Amino acid sequence: MRKQVFLLAFLLAFPFVASFAGEGMWIPMLLKYNEKEMQQMGMRITADDIYSINHSSLKDAIVLFGGGCTGEIVSDEGLLLTNHHCGYGWIQCHSSVEHDYLTDGFWAMNRGEELPCPGLTVTMMKEMRDVTEKILFNVNDDMDEAERQEKIKTNIKKLTEAFEKESGNDVEIESFFLGNEYYAIFNQVFEDVRLVGTPPSNIGKFGGDTDNWMWPRHTGDFSVFRIYVDKEGRPAKYNKDNVPYKPLKHLDISLKGAEAGDFAFVFGYPARTNEYLPAVAVDQEANRIDPVVVDLRGKVLDIYNKYQDADPKVRIQYAAKHANIGNGWKKWKGVTEGINSFKGVERKRYYEEGFYEWCLQSRSRYLYINLLRNFDTIYGKLEPYRMAYNYMTEAGLRIELIGFAGKFNRLSKITKETAQADVDKQIAGLKTAAQAFFKDYYSPIDKEVAVTMLNEYLKAQPADFRPPFLNEIEDVQDFVDELFEKSMFVSETKVNDFLDGFKVKDIRKLLKDPAFKTFKSIIDFYMESVHGQTISYNAEIDRLQRLYMKGQMEKEQEKRFYPDANFTLRVTYGKVEGFQPKDAVAYNHFTTLDGIMQKENPDVYDYVVEPRLKQLYAKKDYGRYADKDGSMHVAFTASVHTTGGNSGSPILNADGQLLGLNFDRCWEGTMSDMVYDPDICRNISVDIRYVLFIIDKFAGAGHLIDEMTIVE
Ligand code: ARG
Ligand code: GLU
Repeated sequence: MRKQVFLLAFLLAFPFVASFAGEGMWIPMLLKYNEKEMQQMGMRITADDIYSINHSSLKDAIVLFGGGCTGEIVSDEGLLLTNHHCGYGWIQCHSSVEHDYLTDGFWAMNRGEELPCPGLTVTMMKEMRDVTEKILFNVNDDMDEAERQEKIKTNIKKLTEAFEKESGNDVEIESFFLGNEYYAIFNQVFEDVRLVGTPPSNIGKFGGDTDNWMWPRHTGDFSVFRIYVDKEGRPAKYNKDNVPYKPLKHLDISLKGAEAGDFAFVFGYPARTNEYLPAVAVDQEANRIDPVVVDLRGKVLDIYNKYQDADPKVRIQYAAKHANIGNGWKKWKGVTEGINSFKGVERKRYYEEGFYEWCLQSRSRYLYINLLRNFDTIYGKLEPYRMAYNYMTEAGLRIELIGFAGKFNRLSKITKETAQADVDKQIAGLKTAAQAFFKDYYSPIDKEVAVTMLNEYLKAQPADFRPPFLNEIEDVQDFVDELFEKSMFVSETKVNDFLDGFKVKDIRKLLKDPAFKTFKSIIDFYMESVHGQTISYNAEIDRLQRLYMKGQMEKEQEKRFYPDANFTLRVTYGKVEGFQPKDAVAYNHFTTLDGIMQKENPDVYDYVVEPRLKQLYAKKDYGRYADKDGSMHVAFTASVHTTGGNSGSPILNADGQLLGLNFDRCWEGTMSDMVYDPDICRNISVDIRYVLFIIDKFAGAGHLIDEMTIVE
């Protein structure tokens, strides 16, 4: 009883529907509706300064970097900043034993030294238009769902083509508010982007996976690129005669830093959020799906750690894999904890009770009356299928040998009729894949992962939800021993021999290989028994979500809703501030170079500090980049609503000047993708003054600073 009273008090104190500053990922073209609030919070510019199609605005300095990060232009010669972890793949691609840019950093001292990155694109949004009416004109809510989707698809296709013809831009039409609104986005894509500079990893990745998702943080997470265009100023493929891009706008950089309480906003490309899920879905995600994935990944990481600690070569081989698996592992652990300690499911339930009451009040709301009950049913049905998918990807395909064998699936479908050119292309691709695979493969790790994961798979999944090969296993250890003894995929020589002399009749050998057979068992089972059901349940969920969203907007007409992130450009704003993650613990909003020296440990890879940085620290040689307190600020937190994809996004002050680069969130608030809490959700940015200090004082690349517009 007391518990219930407490819960009620808690829910009343933090009503879910309150619209607080901090929460929200706003569509730039609609920012005028937020302008007043932003200005009340301290902003000194206008919504029109941020987004306009009539004159240049901040949006002209923001780009989608590659497929998944954000970047910003900081000079009138196309100089671009993003995170180190966003540029990582391109830095690695230019690195070799002779030029180890990952370890040593890299700085082009003139334009000629800037390194082309074929395949890297940046995308700039030119314009956005509301096209809801055009896309939804011949559909309604009573219509058969498949028919509705078909009509929408056709409408999108037609309009996209017309817009592309009219504008010469790349156009995409995206759904917002879960299918209730549609917007067309006109993009310009730049294909000649060159690497200009990067700090060494022990600055750009300082703290590594250990500090990932955590505060206090000391990572100099930035890298520098430049956009090139042809002589006429048009986007073009790489050509040595291309020239630096002259943007309509580049960001001014503030050296003043930010105080606690200052207004700040982030402008970038958040990837995905799910803020309007029903309680049943949040509960499923946080309390059943995520814990299973966390548990499986935790077991894999334990095995990696054991071998990585024992052998420096293995540490390097498994560094990227460890970072990949570990990033999600740590985040989802935080999601579960956050949802539970901040009563995310209860808050949603409380809100849903109110929604249901509202439905009962008028006959016109009949459309929504069964929504919540239907959600319960359908999520219940979906759950075992989601689990089956998770065990397939996180346990079955986590065995590298099986994943690698799977790459040969297309080859297994070749027939005598297949064109020789196609065969040759496949063989060449597989040879490259094999080279990359074996460079970083250590079979003792994989074998131990295989035994552990298959045991977990057997223990947790009922027989009719696991692939047939598992149901035939008598002893897992014996099965794995035989798999690793007999499969050709453990040996680079055997794989290359197979590829070198490949003939159609060799497919028989492939089909008999135990690793390939295991792969087929997993994937065929998935396609036959899991995929179809998942698709059809998800289609029904999409329909329910669309109506639920519509109902919520109808219920609270005075509330400003924001659409879930969908990889389109958004503005999100809040304040520079620290937080109290738990009782009696308070975090300051910024870290300094002192903290780097405190964390220094020459024996632990993540905490090695460059001698040159130590010298600068000893002399306190910070120049104009020091804070007015005399110290070198490294990173800071703010209550700005961000998610994956916001990496590299600029965080700007009240005047729209650059304060830093967003690169992470605090662990305690990673639940913000489903439930945002202004008290504990914080984004983390690297202070722009630390970035400039590293470029100028540490790397001696002051010529890059000279290009920028610095506001002292
Ligand atoms: N957590 C950040 C993000 O989600 C940074 C990831 C890269 N850094 C790392 N140590 N793995 O992308
Ligand atoms: N590091 C993330 C990224 O690469 C940003 C962190 C987050 O999820 O907020 O986009």
